[in-house]
Amino acid sequence: MNNSGFKNEKRQPAIRIVLLPRDTNAAGTIFGGIILSHIDLAGSVEARNSTKNRIVTVAMKEVVFKQPVFVGEVVSFYTSTTHIGRTSISIHVDVEAERDGHIVPVTQADLTFVSVDEKGSPIPI
Ligand SMILES: CC(C)(COP(=O)(O)OP(=O)(O)OC[C@H]1O[C@@H](n2cnc3c(N)ncnc32)[C@H](O)[C@@H]1OP(=O)(O)O)[C@@H](O)C(=O)NCCC(=O)NCCS
Repeated sequence: MNNSGFKNEKRQPAIRIVLLPRDTNAAGTIFGGIILSHIDLAGSVEARNSTKNRIVTVAMKEVVFKQPVFVGEVVSFYTSTTHIGRTSISIHVDVEAERDGHIVPVTQADLTFVSVDEKGSPIPI
């Protein structure tokens, strides 16, 4: 497998999945919302390395899809923690698909999670 994906030596694999026909849009490629959902999940897996508190997603910055994803491809979500604030944790996510023996960069995202109490109010990490 050629390594032609995003370059980030600190990143860790958070999720690796094969997407199915149920995940497609009307054109038959993978629905972008499915990828966004997995980005959110992957980010939360990474954020849990920094706190055992309950966390909620407060922000997902601009996400640009550079390539489509096709049914049956293995899609990997790599994460790295970029900032830990008082109550928030920021995470970078890279998404790559395996296609014809190559790694294809699909998209990347920056998310922020907030540590909250049982009432949903922010609490320190
Ligand atoms: C997350 C939430 C508890 C934050 O409440 P808030 O009153 O904005 O809290 P604060 O202003 O004290 O901000 C808390 C932290 O979030 C950060 N934050 C708030 N808005 C942000 C934004 N748009 N982008 C990045 N970080 C943000 C703040 O910088 C702060 O971080 P710090 O403590 O590390 O400095 C509240 O907005 C919320 O409940 N949102 C809904 C979350 C949710 O349900 N997500 C799933 C959507 S379906």
